[in-house]
Amino acid sequence: DPGISTYVLTDDRIREMLPVRELKGHKGTHGKGVLIAGSKGMSGAAVLAGRGALRSGIGLLQIVTPLGIAQDVDAGLTEATVWAAPGVDYLNEESWPVILKQAEKAQAIAIGPGLAQNFEFAVVLEEVLRTMNCPIILDADALNLLSEDPSLFEARNGRGPLLLTPHPGEMARLCQCTVFDVERNRLDLALTKAAEWEAVVVLKGSVTIVASPDGRAFFNPTGNPGLGTGGTGDVLTGSILAWLAQGVSPLEAACLGVYLHGKSADDLAKNHGWSGFLASEVADQLPKVRHSLE
Ligand code: APR
Ligand code: MG
Repeated sequence: DPGISTYVLTDDRIREMLPVRELKGHKGTHGKGVLIAGSKGMSGAAVLAGRGALRSGIGLLQIVTPLGIAQDVDAGLTEATVWAAPGVDYLNEESWPVILKQAEKAQAIAIGPGLAQNFEFAVVLEEVLRTMNCPIILDADALNLLSEDPSLFEARNGRGPLLLTPHPGEMARLCQCTVFDVERNRLDLALTKAAEWEAVVVLKGSVTIVASPDGRAFFNPTGNPGLGTGGTGDVLTGSILAWLAQGVSPLEAACLGVYLHGKSADDLAKNHGWSGFLASEVADQLPKVRHSLE
C-alpha cells in the first residue's frame, strides 16, 4: 500500500523526539496531566501510572480516583495531587464534576488503569471525550468500555487527539476478533484501526507497534519478557501522559513512551535477567535511560 510507511524506532529517532528542558522551565511549563484511574483493590494501577508520569518529567500530576481508595493512592505517590471523586469503590456518573474541574486545566488526560469495568462510568467517559480538546489516552478498562459501546468513538468527533494503548486481548475485544487474529495481523490491524478510529494506536506486546491514522507505523525493538508482569502497562500509560503534557505530539509521545519503557526493562535485565523486576522499578529506571540518550 503506497499510503503506508513503516519505521523501526532507534536511539537516534528517539533522541530527536525528546523535548528540550528549558533552563527557566518550571512545573507550569512542564505540563499538567490528569490521570483518571483506580478502583477498590486496584489503587496500585493508579500509583504505577502516576509513577510512570512523574519519572517521565511531568510538571504537575493530578490523579482522580474513587473516594474509598484516595488515601491509599495519596500515600503511594507523595508527589501527585489526589482528588477523591464519588463513588466509593468505583468512579461513576457522580464523578463528573470532580473530573471536569481537573480536566479543564490539563494539557493531557489518561483514563483507564485499574478503573474496573463499571458501566456507570461510560457516561463520564463520553463527556470527557466529547468536551476536552487536549490529547486523551485510553487504556485498560476505558478500552473495555469502548468495546462494549463503540458509539463512544463518535463522541470524540475530532475534538482533539486520541491515543489507545491496547494489549492484544484488549485489541481483540475492540476489533471483535480473537487474540490469534490480532497476533497474526498486527501491523495491518493497528494501521487499519488507527485510521478508522482517528487515533494513535499503541498495540502492545513483544514488538509493540505504534500506528498513526496517517499510515505511518513504528516498530519498537526495546523491551523483554520481564515486562510480562502486572503493572508495566500502567507505567507506560503514565509515561505517555507525561510526554503529551510536555507538549510532544501524540505520535511522538507514544513512540517516546514505548521505546524508553522497553529500554528501561532492558537495562534492568542486565542485572536481573528476563524476570523478577517490578513495574515500579521500570518506572524508576526511566530517567536514567532517557538521560543516556541526551
Ligand atoms: N516483550 C516486550 N514487551 C512486553 C512483553 C515481551 N515479551 N510482554 C509484555 N510486554 C510489555 C507490553 O508491550 C506492555 O507495554 O509489557 C506491558 C504490559 O502491559 P499490559 O498488558 O497492559 O499489562 P498491565 O496493564 O501491566 O497488567 C495487566 O491491566 O490491561 C489490564 O487486563 C489487563 O488487568 C490486566 C492488567
Ligand atoms: Mg494494561
